[in-house]
Amino acid sequence: MRTAEIRRRFLEHFVRTGHTVVPSASLIAADPTLLLVNAGMVPFKPYLLGDRTPPYSRATSVQKCVRTVDIEDVGRFSRYGSFFQMCGNFSFGDYFKEAAIRYAWDLLTTAQADGGYGFDAEQLWVTVYLDDDEAHDAWTRQIGVPAQRVQRLGKEDNYWDMGVPGPCGPDSEIFIDRGPQHGPAGGPAVGGDRYVELWNLVFMQYERGEGVGKDYPIVRDLPAQNIDTGMGLERVATQLQGVDNLYEIDEVRPVLDRAVELTGKRYGADHADDVRLRVVADHVRTTLMLIGDGVTPANEGRGYVLRRILRRAVRAMRLLGHDDLALPELLPVSRDSMSPSYPELAQDFERISSYAYAEEEAFRSTLQAGSRHFDVMVTDRVGITDGHTLSGATAFKLHDTYGFPIDLTLEMAAEQGLSVDEEGFRRLMAEQRTRAKEDSRARRTGGADLSAYRSVLEGAGPSTFTGYAEVERDSPVVAVIGADGGRTGAGEGDEVEVVLQATPFYAEAGGQLADSGRITVAGGELEVYDVQSPVPGLIVHRARVLRGELRAGEAAHAVVDVERRRSISRSHTATHLVHRAMRAALGDSATQAGSLNAPGRLRFDFNTPTAVPSTVLTDVEAQVNAVLLDDLPVRAFVTTQDEARRIGAMALFGEKYGDEVRVVEVGDYARELCGGTHAARSAQLGVVKLLSEASIGAGVRRVEALVGLDAFRFLAREHVLVAQLAELFKVPGEEVPDRVHALVSRLRDAEKELEKLRADAVLARAGELAAAARDVHGVAVVTKEAAEGTGADDLRRLVLDVRGRLDPGRAAVVAVAGANSGRASIVVAVNGPARDRRLSARDILREAGQAIDGRGGGSDDLAQGGGAKPAGIADALRSVEGHVARQVGGGQVGGGQVGGTE
Ligand code: SER
Repeated sequence: MRTAEIRRRFLEHFVRTGHTVVPSASLIAADPTLLLVNAGMVPFKPYLLGDRTPPYSRATSVQKCVRTVDIEDVGRFSRYGSFFQMCGNFSFGDYFKEAAIRYAWDLLTTAQADGGYGFDAEQLWVTVYLDDDEAHDAWTRQIGVPAQRVQRLGKEDNYWDMGVPGPCGPDSEIFIDRGPQHGPAGGPAVGGDRYVELWNLVFMQYERGEGVGKDYPIVRDLPAQNIDTGMGLERVATQLQGVDNLYEIDEVRPVLDRAVELTGKRYGADHADDVRLRVVADHVRTTLMLIGDGVTPANEGRGYVLRRILRRAVRAMRLLGHDDLALPELLPVSRDSMSPSYPELAQDFERISSYAYAEEEAFRSTLQAGSRHFDVMVTDRVGITDGHTLSGATAFKLHDTYGFPIDLTLEMAAEQGLSVDEEGFRRLMAEQRTRAKEDSRARRTGGADLSAYRSVLEGAGPSTFTGYAEVERDSPVVAVIGADGGRTGAGEGDEVEVVLQATPFYAEAGGQLADSGRITVAGGELEVYDVQSPVPGLIVHRARVLRGELRAGEAAHAVVDVERRRSISRSHTATHLVHRAMRAALGDSATQAGSLNAPGRLRFDFNTPTAVPSTVLTDVEAQVNAVLLDDLPVRAFVTTQDEARRIGAMALFGEKYGDEVRVVEVGDYARELCGGTHAARSAQLGVVKLLSEASIGAGVRRVEALVGLDAFRFLAREHVLVAQLAELFKVPGEEVPDRVHALVSRLRDAEKELEKLRADAVLARAGELAAAARDVHGVAVVTKEAAEGTGADDLRRLVLDVRGRLDPGRAAVVAVAGANSGRASIVVAVNGPARDRRLSARDILREAGQAIDGRGGGSDDLAQGGGAKPAGIADALRSVEGHVARQVGGGQVGGGQVGGTE
C-alpha cells in the first residue's frame, strides 16, 4: 500500500468517527520552546493546556516532523528518520482511553479490503504504563488482546512529555512483531529491533515543570482529560510495503536508487555503504522539507539543523565516491516522490533548490580546505596525541578557521579510527566564548578568524557611525576582507566584507537588525546585505559586488535603504513603549530579557513569573497607542551613567556600558539606555498591535507585535474575515462567536443522536438472532446476513452483542456478514467454551472468506475480514456451520434452524 494511501485511510477513518481534519502545520514551530515541530501534538499544545479553546473537540492530522536527536542512528536502524510524518487523532476533553484504544485497534486490524491496514492481530503487542489498570483492562477485556501480549513498563517507556515543560501523561503503545529473524522473543519489554512501535496513545492529563529527563514535577492536572496519539506513517508504510526499513518505502527509496546510479555502488553489498546510501535518502528528503517550510542554512538554531543535515548528505555522497555536485541530481527525485502529498514543493522548487544548491557549493569549498588540513594532520601525525586522539586544538582550528562543526570532525576522525579530545575542544570553545563576551559586541563573526578584523582596527582605527543623523555618506574604503582574510580589492560577483572610515549603516546590535543598502565607487557597485561589528569599534559591511570592482583606499558613497531603516526604527521605538507599558502594568521586575526590532514587527522578551492575563495585554496595547496619539518627540542624548540612573532611565539586562551612555526618551513617558535608531516622533508609529504572548522558558515571556502599516494590514485582514463570517452566518459581527458556539454544540448533539440511532437499529436485531441460534453438535451457531449498507463497526458490535446474549456456559459461534458499497464484510466471534472445543474465530473466518474472495485476520476469539464478492455471502455463512460440524462432530450438520438472509 502506498504511503499516500495509508495517510488517506488514516484521515478517512477518523473523519468517519467525527474528527476534523487539520492540515499539517509548518515545521517551523510557532512554539518558542522548540526549534522544529517534532510531534503531531505540537500545534495543539495551547488546546491541551487549556490556554485556548479548540474550535473542535476531535481533530486528526498528518503532521510533518523533524527530530535530530537520533541522527547518528539514521541509516543504521530501520526505524529512524530525521524527517517523518506523524498521523494523529486528538480529543480535547471529549473521548478518553477506551475509545482511543478502540479507534487505533480498529484501523490497524480492519481488513485492507474494508479500508483498514489489515495487520494480523496476533502480531501486535501492547504496552501500558505500570499502574494504568484502565488501559490494561481496555486492551484485555474490551479488545480481547491476550494478557501475555500486554506489558506494563515504566516511565522511561510509557510516559510521554515534550522534553520541556508542557502537557504530559501516561501512554500506551502498539508494537508490531517483525518476526524471529529480527531478534529475541519476549515482546517490546525486551527491546531491540524485532518489536517496532507503530502507534503511541498518550493520555494527556497533567502539566509537567522543569526537570532533567523523566525527573520533573507534575505542576497541575490539565483542565480536561485529552487524547494525543501518534502513528508513524513511515513505520506503517515499511510494514505494509513489506520492506526492511523506512529508507526503502515509496517516498524515500527513489533517492536511494538515484544515489546508487550516481555512485555505481550496489545496495545490499556492503554494510557501511548501505548506511551511507540510507543517510543520503533520508537527509535529502529532510533538506527538501525544511527549506520547503522556510528554513535557510545558518550557523545557529534551525538553520544549523538544516545545514548539518544537508552537509551530512553531501559528505555521504563523497564517501560513496561521488565527487561532483550531488543535490542537483537528488533533490528533484525527492521532490517527485513527495509532491503527491505536498504539491507546494513542486511549485516552490526553484526557491528551495537554489538554497540547497548554493549551500552545497559553499560546503564544498569549506570541505576542500578543511579536509586538506585534516589530512595533513592525520598523515603527518601532527595534532594527534597518544597515537589515536585528535587534539582539542586541531578540532578547534578546524572549527574556527575552516568552519567545521564538531560533529563533522568527530565523524571524519571516527572514519580514520581516531577519537577526538572533545573536552579540550570544548575548553577552547569556552575560552573563545569568554573572550567574545568580554568585548560585548564581538557577536556573529560568521565563524571567521577575528585576527583579520583586529589588524584592520589596529591599522586604520575605529569606524565612525554617522547613521543617527544621516542615511548617506561619502567615505574612503579602509579595507576589503575576503573569506581568506585581508585583500586589496574585489571583482564582480565576489562576496566581501568592506570597512569604511565612516558609515551611516547600523550594525546589528541590541536586538535591532542591521541596515541594508548600497555602496558605490567610481568603477562599481555593491549590495550591502548585512552589517556587523565583530570586534568593538569596527563596522563591517557584508556585501556582494553587483558590477565593476572595488579597491581598498578608493572613495566610496554609502546609501542606506531608507524605507527599511525607517520601518526598523519605528519598531525599535515601539519596543521601548511596550517595555515601559509592561512595567507600568506588571511592576518594575518586568525587565527586558531580549528583543528583536525588524521592519514592521518586534519581539520583546521580558521577565515575569506567570502568564500575562489577556486583560493586561489589552491595557498595555491601549496605553501604547495612546502614547502614539500624544505625538511625543523622541530625543537621544549622551550623558554619564550616574546622570542616566538619576533620571530613571531603564538599563537593559546583561549589557555593559562605559562611563558615557546614550539615553533615548520618548517625551516624558519612556527613558532607556539605547544605542539604536528611532522614529522622530511617537505618532510616526501609526498603530501598534500586540499579536501574541507566550512562555519561552522559566519566568521569561515573549510578546510579538506589528507596527505601522503592517499592523494596519493585519487589522484590516481580520476585519474582512469577521465581515465574511458575519455574512455567512447572517448575524452582526459581534454575534459570530455565539452563533458558531451554538452551531458546534447542535452539530455535536446531532452526531451523538445519529450514532445512537444507528447503534440501536443494529442492536435491535440482536435478541431475535440469539433466540434463533441453531444447535450443531452441542454448539449454538448463529449466522446472519445483515441489511445492505451495514458498516464493519456495526457488524462487529452486533456479533459481540449476540454472543453476549447466548448462554455463556455453552459453546457458541456467531457470524454476521453484510454487503456495503459493493464489498462484503464478515465478522466471526466464538466464546470460551467453543474455544475449548478447538473452534477458532480466525480459522472459521479463513474458510468463510474464500466464498467472498476475501481475507482478514483477528484472534481465536474475534476475527474480521472483507472481500470483493458480496454474492458469496450466503455461501460464506453456510460454510461457518460446515466448519463447526467438521470440527466438533466429524462433518455432520446437526438439526435446528440456521439463520436466513434478510
Ligand atoms: N505525542 C506523542 C508522540 O509524539 C503521540 O503523538 O509520540
